[in-house]
Amino acid sequence: MPQNPFSYGKALSPNHFIGRSKEIRRIVNRLLNGESTALIGDPHIGKTSLLTYLVHSDTRQSLYEGKAAQWYFSMMDTQILGGQLTPVQFWEQALFPIKESLDKEPPDSLLNKHYALCKENNFGNFTLERLFLLLKKIGRQFVLALDEFDTLLNHPVLNSAEFYGGLRSFASRPEFALVLIIASRTPLSQLNSRTQKFNPTGSPFFNIFAEITMGALTDKEVEKLFSLAGDRFKDHEKHAIKALAGKHPYLLQATCAALWDAYEEDEINRQPYVVQRLQEVNFFFSDTWRTWTPEIRKAFTIAAIAHQERLLKDAGFFGENLMTSIEDWKPELRELENKGWIEKDEQYQGGYKISSEIMLAWLSDELIKAARTDKSFESWLQERGIDGAFISVDEKKAFVEAAKKAAGVIKQAKEPIKDVFDLVKGLFGAS
Ligand SMILES: Nc1ncnc2c1ncn2[C@@H]1O[C@H](COP(=O)(O)OP(=O)(O)OP(=O)(O)O)[C@@H](O)[C@H]1O
Ligand SMILES: [Mg+2]
Repeated sequence: MPQNPFSYGKALSPNHFIGRSKEIRRIVNRLLNGESTALIGDPHIGKTSLLTYLVHSDTRQSLYEGKAAQWYFSMMDTQILGGQLTPVQFWEQALFPIKESLDKEPPDSLLNKHYALCKENNFGNFTLERLFLLLKKIGRQFVLALDEFDTLLNHPVLNSAEFYGGLRSFASRPEFALVLIIASRTPLSQLNSRTQKFNPTGSPFFNIFAEITMGALTDKEVEKLFSLAGDRFKDHEKHAIKALAGKHPYLLQATCAALWDAYEEDEINRQPYVVQRLQEVNFFFSDTWRTWTPEIRKAFTIAAIAHQERLLKDAGFFGENLMTSIEDWKPELRELENKGWIEKDEQYQGGYKISSEIMLAWLSDELIKAARTDKSFESWLQERGIDGAFISVDEKKAFVEAAKKAAGVIKQAKEPIKDVFDLVKGLFGAS
């Protein structure tokens, strides 16, 4: 039985990695200039896969103009650092590639001596400074990739001024050889404000990074992903996959994997099979929702209602108030657009539609569940964490009304989640 070429769940190894050429080009240029970068993105957008691609021994030689042989690469997942891990243990782990290379150095080399000094002094910032200074002098660069960087903010020991100050200073000054690539679900502005207490008057710790927000794949990258199936998927099926998953890499992989298996198992009717299988990824939506601010959640809900309204043939959910409010939510809508969750489409009220029908179905289902109980929409908003968003009384009223109407109409469908999927039904052939 041929192996399913699609994989979703864990980060990809470089030989399965697809695309992201724009992001790669930017980060590689920055690394060549000795500059640090922060990769910011929602859950499962591909941060770890990209970090791995950038530092992996299989890709280094071709990525960095032949300089990789002179560079050290180290990658750490800060989420798995034990709660009691000290800065000493952190640096010992991070600098392991240097330690490993010392065997090839003469025992009395400066690098050997400096590394030993660092160790003797418990990797204090002063000796680390000397080490990074030396590395730079001898033409080396130390690339340190820190995944799940935002979890450091909850670390009982490392979440400290000394630790962040050291990282910032070694990575920001041109005389030192440290370059950082960090990945985080939390944007830099929030990382800065959450660490401001350590440094109330100085520069924010993390303003040395260029921030790259990871969003949807490009059309070309999506085609490349489809090509993993050879000629198995029909054109109308590819079209349906894009409607369901948008261009989100994880959702695409999950949908493609399901369709591949439907063929493998000789399913006569592949559409319900795929839809059924996609229930597996429901947890992903709640995960994503949890990481959003109340403002983003509200902006997404508005766009989802606008989308539903059009699908349900302009059911009139939108009063004038809500239309005005869409204008006020432009920054959040733009952020959602950058992250690949919504896309511009003038046919929809407010000018946006939801990119993934599966995400739309998830949110609609949540709305319906709320409508099924006698709970007020006020409490639905509260439970969903939307009520924390700043909204005027009028706006709130309009929003609640629109959400109620939307839920009311969607509720009439016997199987609500199927209702949305029905819209792409027919795109899947029966055989
Ligand atoms: N470049 C890519 N090409 C193809 N598929 C990808 C790519 N990047 C991510 N994916 C898909 O998304 C899934 C999740 O990727 P990854 O673990 O790298 O995301 P992440 O942003 O690190 O997630 P988390 O926020 O949970 O740490 C992968 O298993 C794969 O299915
Ligand atoms: Mg990750």
